[in-house]
Amino acid sequence: MKRYIFGNWKMAQARTKAIEFVSRWSGSKENVEAAVFPSFVHLGECIRERKNGLKIGAQDCSTEMEGAFTGEVSARMLAEFGMDYVLVGHSERRARFGESNEQLKAKLHQLSLVGLKPVFCCGESLEIRKAGKVFDLLEKQLEVIGAAEMNAFKPLIIAYEPVWAIGTGVTASSSEIEEVHAWLSKKLPGAVLLYGGSVKLENSEQILRIPGVHGLLIGGASLSPENFEAICQIASRLSV
Ligand code: PGA
Repeated sequence: MKRYIFGNWKMAQARTKAIEFVSRWSGSKENVEAAVFPSFVHLGECIRERKNGLKIGAQDCSTEMEGAFTGEVSARMLAEFGMDYVLVGHSERRARFGESNEQLKAKLHQLSLVGLKPVFCCGESLEIRKAGKVFDLLEKQLEVIGAAEMNAFKPLIIAYEPVWAIGTGVTASSSEIEEVHAWLSKKLPGAVLLYGGSVKLENSEQILRIPGVHGLLIGGASLSPENFEAICQIASRLSV
């Protein structure tokens, strides 16, 4: 089974480090799709300089395709670069920039028009988990994904990232991850399911061994090429 190891660099990777990472990349492994998601302003150079099959994605895109939208970057602009993936609905965008389901639906639509693949993020806050409402919340977040979206993106990639596990050093337990991934695979048959939230080299094998986990979306630990390559190596070993 193919594994997906994706690195979300957020606003954390300096330009020189980003270019060094992609231009020296030699960590591609059999049966592993490795991709990094640099800042918008580094995308052009990263795409030009990337080596050995490393895929490149953007961290967001506009709900609009063109026009008077100061500061926005459209799906078409990204497609023209030769991008591979685009993150949609990361919890930081939902929480800090107030992105709504309507906006996320519009972004998926724009990506479908230009043939770019989304990585659709979902996941609950600690409050929601404590209240026992994880699946109600996921159900709401996934209202954005209908038959049109399932057909447009084959396979559709979903990243389950509990908000309380992102950047905190606390990962969800194996049983919590397994429970959500089992629910997701029933709800979205055929989707590729990633886990994200404080994934490190040290816990990556344990998480990749959880049934229903096809790959990882990694923040902080993806900034180092050595770490990222070592995780790809583990994923490749587990892919057979
Ligand atoms: P983290 O971030 O691995 O640093 O917790 C994951 C993410 O936000 O995608």
